[in-house]
Amino acid sequence: MGKMLFTGGTVVTADGSFTADVLVEDEKIVAIGMDLSADGAETVDASGKLIMPGFIDAHTHMSMPFGGTVTADDWATGTAAAAAGGTTTIIDFALQEEGGTLAGAVEAWTEKARGKALIDYGFHVAITDLRDDIKSELPSLAEKGVASVKIFMAYKGTPLYTEDDNLFEVLQLSKEAGVLVLVHAENGDVVAKLQEQALARGDTAPRFHALTRPPEVEAEATGRAIRLAEVAGVPILVVHVSCAPALQEIHRAHERGQTVYAETCPQYFALSYNDLAREGFEGAKYVCSPPLRHESNRPALWNGLKVGDLQIFGSDHCSFNYREQKEMGRDDFTLIPNGLPGAEERAMVLWTLGVREGRISENQFVAVLSTNQARIYGAYPEKGALVPGADADIVLWDPQLSTMVTVGNRHGNVDYTPYEGMTFEGGPASVYVRGNLVYRDGEIMGEYGSGRFIQRSFTATGLEAKV
Ligand code: URP
Ligand code: ZN
Ligand code: ZN
Repeated sequence: MGKMLFTGGTVVTADGSFTADVLVEDEKIVAIGMDLSADGAETVDASGKLIMPGFIDAHTHMSMPFGGTVTADDWATGTAAAAAGGTTTIIDFALQEEGGTLAGAVEAWTEKARGKALIDYGFHVAITDLRDDIKSELPSLAEKGVASVKIFMAYKGTPLYTEDDNLFEVLQLSKEAGVLVLVHAENGDVVAKLQEQALARGDTAPRFHALTRPPEVEAEATGRAIRLAEVAGVPILVVHVSCAPALQEIHRAHERGQTVYAETCPQYFALSYNDLAREGFEGAKYVCSPPLRHESNRPALWNGLKVGDLQIFGSDHCSFNYREQKEMGRDDFTLIPNGLPGAEERAMVLWTLGVREGRISENQFVAVLSTNQARIYGAYPEKGALVPGADADIVLWDPQLSTMVTVGNRHGNVDYTPYEGMTFEGGPASVYVRGNLVYRDGEIMGEYGSGRFIQRSFTATGLEAKV
């Protein structure tokens, strides 16, 4: 690609907002300033738009086997949905197979992405089988640019579930290995017991998914994981924080001076337990873990984003169709595959409910969707920044855009949307990955397979990014 000059827009970064032009050449940002000119550059009129660094979604599950089925979005439809939401990079969870290696997980996920990814991508590896050879293999992940691993404290009875001794050992090994440890924090033993008791009582409807995973179960596991990281003397990242009691554990750790990163997701702001409790089997469309909570948790979550206890807003995009997939649990809520689509809606939810309502600033919006994610996950400043030398991943955000969500205008491959009928204000008008247009005005414009793997590392920060 040649040169492109974005003119007339307002640059919005994590640190501030200002009027400037942005010059792009050979997939990189080369200059930001007033009244730039460049011979032969294609001019992009950004007037009335906010020029933001492309959003990063470090929590997606594309083509992932889970809950007895495979997620509905593959790397083409999933990255199309993400691009339509302003996302230019995803970091997806590659699952280690039982008996398999970490390298095997990376290879399998590389194949899934090949020829399909519309945007750039990286992987976290979910460790499911911590053998001695896997402990020795851990440092080689960082050498491959896969600088993070995930441990599931939940999902007892599946290969994902991990006991404390293994979680602790991974934490101990993580610093030397140069990988950040992410945790899904719910007490898997207690959830399994509560589920068994609910089913024995004949409580099989979708809402029992939430009633068997109460906030305390998430808070207990969150506090436990944080304390184990404290003993191991390493940072930790808690994904998909859904409720006030779990957030309180994170806040307390911050008061002690511990490095704890935390993510929350759009479904905990736009949806609630009332959706899960919808008539008949409709609630299955809202089954995810941790579950949707009572709305009373929201003020604490908003405050967490505002004060920085929650630094990341990820989608946890884990889509299943209603027909034949969610329906697997018609007579038993524990068989409903857990997860919701949200990559496309993530930024619009945050803008509509957060920025427009005055709960967070436009700069905090950019921080939690992009810059903090790049910093915390070891991809900064190549990603997550509008600075000379960074990849030209750019969103032209239109604050005037209004989108009524319906399944027919979604870009993913799901037969429903949990956001059906909701109207979101503000949205991406056009999206560029390394200067290449991938999305404009509702249409996918990019080439499937053009997304590139991004090497992440913590050589600059030693696992401890300042955000
Ligand atoms: O319900 C969810 N969140 N499904 C995806 C897997 C996970 O726990 O992140
Ligand atoms: Zn999880
Ligand atoms: Zn997830």
